Amino acid sequence: MKRFLDLADLERDAVLDLLALAARLEQHPEPRALAGRILGMVFFNPSLRTLASFQAGMARLGGTSFVVTPGQGTWKLEHKLGAIMDGDRAEHVREGIPVLASYCDVFGIRAFAEGTDMAFDLAETQFNAMADTVDKPLINLESAVNHPCQALADWKTLNDLGVPQSGKFVLSWVKHPRALPLAVPAATLHMAAMRGMDVTVLRPDGFALPEAIMNKARLAAAASGGSVRETDNRAEALQGAQVLYAKEWGSTRHYGDAAGDAALRAHLGDWTVDESWFANADAQCKFMHCLPVRRNVAVADHVLDGPRSVVLREAHNRMPAQMAVLHRLLAHST
Ligand code: CP
Repeated sequence: MKRFLDLADLERDAVLDLLALAARLEQHPEPRALAGRILGMVFFNPSLRTLASFQAGMARLGGTSFVVTPGQGTWKLEHKLGAIMDGDRAEHVREGIPVLASYCDVFGIRAFAEGTDMAFDLAETQFNAMADTVDKPLINLESAVNHPCQALADWKTLNDLGVPQSGKFVLSWVKHPRALPLAVPAATLHMAAMRGMDVTVLRPDGFALPEAIMNKARLAAAASGGSVRETDNRAEALQGAQVLYAKEWGSTRHYGDAAGDAALRAHLGDWTVDESWFANADAQCKFMHCLPVRRNVAVADHVLDGPRSVVLREAHNRMPAQMAVLHRLLAHST
């Protein structure tokens, strides 16, 4: 494995191998496995879990890491190709990214969607332009429409909890004050489909996931024996569900149009998960969310603090899952 950018780049067996390694590293730490190796990370957007779990994971494998947040103690970086750089951005990513990558053995980039042009974001235009300048093992720390590290950790969480491979998995849109990117819903949908689950995307009108994302997941489901469908009918979607994975995302009908998005979501006041959502779900139905989450907006306190919630386990699993990724990318490379 040379890059970890998208679960879809890997054969299912390679993902299972990473999950087995993550479980092994959890039980049998290898504190010298990556001694002398350096992880570099650049975060164009904020993070709590991704940043801390990668730094901790790299240290637990004997390596070290550095983090750059452009514009915070460093030069601001320009992304646009052909930009006339006479503003406040003193350096272009075409120099800044390969320079940073040259200092380390494995490199990670977080760069969220621009959120104005859906085709531009679906093509991962910004992330790929930077990735093309990196000649090292590379990790996607969350891009416009992908978050493979979160997806791998969530797959591990499902395994840890004994959720059946073919279990019923509902990915539901939930409330948020504003439009958020498609990265986590897209990656989560793909993960559950690739795992072989019976997946339902539950979302209100105007928030359907783009066909490119749905079709990619349908292909993964066809290969794994799973299924993918979408609906706006909550009762039907949650009937017998074993997992409810809540996530906020922006209106795809009004992509890049904040006013249009806001007008649509103004009428969606009942999309805060509470216990009533689980009335016809499996009695053991789990509540998942990648975090951060807004309490009593996306989900009620009593669900988040109750026995269904596995959000802390998901967040913890970021570390062993990413340790497995680092191990596979570096342990046998020179
Ligand atoms: N879930 C997730 O990626 O969290 P952070 O944004 O805090 O890294």
